[in-house]
Amino acid sequence: MKKVLSLTIVLFLFVRLSVLAGEGMWLPMLLQSLNEKEMKEMGMRISAEDIYSVNHSSLKDAIVIFGGGCTGEVVSDQGLLLTNHHCGFGSIQKHSSVEHDYLTDGFWAMSQAEELPNPGLSVTFLVRMEDVTENALEGVTEDMSQNDREELIKKNIEAIKDSATKDTHYKAVVKPFYYGNKYYLFVNEVFNDVRLVGAPPSNIGKFGGDTDNWMWPRHTGDFSVFRIYANKDNEPADYSEDNVPYTPKKFLDVSLKGVEKDDFTFVFGYPGSTEEYVPSYSISHITEVTNPVRIGLRGKRLDIMSKYMNADPAIRIQYAAKYAGVSNGWKKWQGENRGIKRLKAVEKKQAFEKQFNEWANATPERKAKYAQLIPEFEKTSKQYSDLDLAFTYLLEAGISGIEVVRYARSYSGLVRLCEAKDADKEKIIAMATRLTSRIDGHFKDYYQLIDEEVMAAMLTRYANDLPLKWQPDVLRDINKKYKGNFDAFAQKLFNKSMFTSKEKMIAFMDGFKKNKYKKIEKDPAYQLASDLIDFYLAKVQPGLAETSAKLDSLQRIYMKAQMEMQPDARFYPDANFTLRIAYGKVDDYMPRDAVHYRHFTTLDGIMEKENPDIYDYVVEDKLKELYNEKDFGKYAAKDGKMHVAFTASNHTTGGNSGSPVLNADGQLIGLNFDRNWEGTMSDLMYDPDQCRNITLDIRYCLFIMDKFAGAGHLVEEMNIIE
Ligand code: ARG
Ligand code: GLU
Repeated sequence: MKKVLSLTIVLFLFVRLSVLAGEGMWLPMLLQSLNEKEMKEMGMRISAEDIYSVNHSSLKDAIVIFGGGCTGEVVSDQGLLLTNHHCGFGSIQKHSSVEHDYLTDGFWAMSQAEELPNPGLSVTFLVRMEDVTENALEGVTEDMSQNDREELIKKNIEAIKDSATKDTHYKAVVKPFYYGNKYYLFVNEVFNDVRLVGAPPSNIGKFGGDTDNWMWPRHTGDFSVFRIYANKDNEPADYSEDNVPYTPKKFLDVSLKGVEKDDFTFVFGYPGSTEEYVPSYSISHITEVTNPVRIGLRGKRLDIMSKYMNADPAIRIQYAAKYAGVSNGWKKWQGENRGIKRLKAVEKKQAFEKQFNEWANATPERKAKYAQLIPEFEKTSKQYSDLDLAFTYLLEAGISGIEVVRYARSYSGLVRLCEAKDADKEKIIAMATRLTSRIDGHFKDYYQLIDEEVMAAMLTRYANDLPLKWQPDVLRDINKKYKGNFDAFAQKLFNKSMFTSKEKMIAFMDGFKKNKYKKIEKDPAYQLASDLIDFYLAKVQPGLAETSAKLDSLQRIYMKAQMEMQPDARFYPDANFTLRIAYGKVDDYMPRDAVHYRHFTTLDGIMEKENPDIYDYVVEDKLKELYNEKDFGKYAAKDGKMHVAFTASNHTTGGNSGSPVLNADGQLIGLNFDRNWEGTMSDLMYDPDQCRNITLDIRYCLFIMDKFAGAGHLVEEMNIIE
């Protein structure tokens, strides 16, 4: 027995003990103890303290959360900010119309006075972080139910946040790490006046569009430029003409030296979410249940959207951001499924679980704590999976997949306020005013016929593909009444509902009074939304909440057990949209047998891909001219070419978009903007052979700003290292 055990442990050590080269998204605060040595061995010339310091300004003071889901970095002493084009896309689009089509033509403010404000857009700096596990878990005991545990932790967290921000304008967040085995506090400073400074035309910023998205070789000039404004005391302030450019504690130096294969690089930013430590059952659920459903439903929606977008440039602008959003997940999940299969990730997890079980059963104490974990996972995952399928349909084919349903649903808060016995008049008016102010924005980017066709298509699949027991009653009723003809149903709904028409909505909301809520409730789009949600709340949500709480609890224990089983291993916490550092090397890869992908692309490739008939592959004359004359200025690489993008083995995920990619000296060499399709399974399991992040070479970014757009004054604002 002993012999067998030690053999499996040796095997196990071999498979799991150390994180793989390039793998990991590390906490800035722990860099010195966990990573600095390795980073230096890999070529880094700065120290962990230069990257993150509590006492001095450090690189972290130049990094921001951009908006709700991207990263950005400050590159001048006047608050100049770089992020991706696709991160600034929403803002660029909002300023765009057929007359001023900044999406198509690009936008460049030639002076600060021309920079455009973006209400609702903010950037967030991290002031400091702190391990608050002890305080967060105060009073928590092992025999508490998951719910009681969460309640208590929530209360503790509120207290931690209050005391951390007392008498300051800072905002605090406390997040669980390692599935609730650790808690960290983040004290943030949030700026609300962020102005658009520049964006290349989409045929540069989104070159290759959704066809090239998630793909290597890549030629996308995926950047946009913003500026942070502050009040006269350099503090956050709402937009005002009196605000001035923010003076940062730190801004990044920009290197024109470029990269060679095997150069050390690191990415500093906000990865959103990964699940590296979950059991095989979770991987199977994602790849076999939810991904295929989402891929199928979204594929259908995309077909419908593109049919209309290709026929009319106005609709193309209206739906540009929506299309990109829907398509992004659709394509990523396909890559993820493929990668998981190729990596045999489920089999690898199963093998690990076998070893884990042996370890867990090897002593009586462990047996008591951990022996039931895997069997419990198996049982609970099955129940969860079934319910989550119903939930996936509710979202993708219902309340978020169909625009009119989602829009009607956004009036539910108003209905609730009006219905209340002691309805609060002021609150009602405030909410009605807010909803009214959003009507224009909603309908600016809304095209009825797309939505009507999408509704029919989504409901048809909802009714045909989901097991009957999970189908909301309303769906069965429609199916019966219209004999499966959801087109007819959608047509009728679209004629009757007011949520499909701007004029109707404006007329309805004009002088809104409490009793009008009944008309909302009777609206067929609102009714459909309510019926779908009521079914979900009654039949799906209770079980889903129960099983996911159970899984959370199991996962917390499983995480702890995995760490206990491998006491010498380094564990990075799964991504949770907190500031992290990933490091690796500039590297090429072989996507399949005999095919070698070089680690960088050049402007030559843009000319190869050029196609004047396809929107995403148009190359403007100006760029061709610069190319033909090799007019690359100081931005050319040593080989005389204009390098566009490069790949490296940094472990990144969604949210890392716009993150600075830095060299061994901590200077900016590019903007992270994507991953390769073959490597998108790295959210679940990392493969050093296949996983690459895709970086826009900073030299191409500056070349476009300076030579193409004539905005060289922006480059002059930066500290350029030649
Ligand atoms: N795939 C990148 C990311 O995950 C870029 C997405 C935006 N680009 C696009 N063509 N949809 O977010
Ligand atoms: N494009 C992604 C983002 O918006 C980054 C790509 C990835 O998922 O790694 O964050």
